[in-house]
Amino acid sequence: MHQAIEPRLARLAHTLDPWLQELDETWSLAETRARIVAIRDEAEDLRTFVLAPNRHWRGHRAGQFVPVSVIVDGVRVERCYSLSSAPGARFPTITVRRVPGGRASGWLHDRATIGDVVRLGRASGAFVLGEETRQLLLVSGGSGITPCLSIARDLARRGELNNVVFVHAARSGAATPHAIREELEGLTSAGIHFTVGPLTAERIDALVPDWATRQTMLCGPLPMMDALADHWHAHGLSDRLVTERFAPPAPLNRERAGHSSESTSVKVTLTRGARSLMLAPAPTLLEALEAAGERPTYGCRQGICNTCRCRKASGLVEDLVTGRRSDAANEDIRLCTSRALSDLELDLGENR
Ligand SMILES: Cc1cc2nc3c(=O)[nH]c(=O)nc-3n(C[C@H](O)[C@H](O)[C@H](O)COP(=O)(O)OP(=O)(O)OC[C@H]3O[C@@H](n4cnc5c(N)ncnc54)[C@H](O)[C@@H]3O)c2cc1C
Ligand code: FES
Repeated sequence: MHQAIEPRLARLAHTLDPWLQELDETWSLAETRARIVAIRDEAEDLRTFVLAPNRHWRGHRAGQFVPVSVIVDGVRVERCYSLSSAPGARFPTITVRRVPGGRASGWLHDRATIGDVVRLGRASGAFVLGEETRQLLLVSGGSGITPCLSIARDLARRGELNNVVFVHAARSGAATPHAIREELEGLTSAGIHFTVGPLTAERIDALVPDWATRQTMLCGPLPMMDALADHWHAHGLSDRLVTERFAPPAPLNRERAGHSSESTSVKVTLTRGARSLMLAPAPTLLEALEAAGERPTYGCRQGICNTCRCRKASGLVEDLVTGRRSDAANEDIRLCTSRALSDLELDLGENR
């Protein structure tokens, strides 16, 4: 559950939802659920799911992602997927690459059928268009095409795709989403480049000679993103590059979080609402708050999306990705990658 639900409504939903579900699986007092109404193969291991959400769906901004949860072998599994449709689409879409051995993507590819119902969170994410929409360069690799596609479809709808250059790299011809390429080529006569093989800085130079003058949005496999981000950095253009990662740069050190002798109960004062909670030891602050009955907003739960960011007014925390400890006052922290090492004051802001 990702958005703050009024506690009484949440309790009512808990009681009534199972009955409503007997009538229609998408019915819920509080949860966003969506029925899969169509499934499209886009390329080898890349498949689009067309969704019909219930009335709780609040839509998305082009480039944002949505947490999707499915039940795999009796266990609820939740993953983030970027919306590939334009905002406002009656039937939003997600486009999912099968990850070998992956639980959610494997279920979606191998077991999901038309009529199945998935649970959705609230769309969020900062990979969205800023002021500059005309001189834009969209660069994607593999399943990283999804947020860029939503942006391109949005711009096409607004008649603003003509000066946009879109470069997409697939690992092979079979992995190239041909129907998507044809759709984009039909929307604009300028700047659609679908390539095969790794997308290097040299390739970008050759395909888009004026890349340095463009605002660039990049999403793809981590090695490709790192190489291209270095290129932008080397030209002093990092501020012209916006990136979206599908996986964290480093895994969360849960081992350390779970077993350290420093793990202890802490008092957390929530400055908005002026109340205090005792949090039992938990690997992350997000999990500790949830165990205490709070409902902070989250997305990826692995330090990528910043949805869980909030303001720490005081106290000592450790970042479980970098290992960095900080007791600085009034700093932003991510609940999903932080653990408390002392009593804290937190301003969850909208994030509850
Ligand atoms: C903001 C955001 C947006 C995303 N949007 C999309 C999208 O539009 N389309 C899409 O297909 N995916 C997207 N992802 C990735 C998606 O959330 C899952 O991570 C992915 O589908 C794998 O989940 P799984 O349950 O199938 O694999 P898991 O069971 O979690 O993992 C199985 C194995 O695969 C590895 N693995 C996990 N994720 C990846 C990955 N992305 N690439 C390579 N190996 C991985 C794990 O380390 C593990 O070894 C997005 C992720 C984020 C954070
Ligand atoms: S939920 Fe995505 S960064 Fe914390």
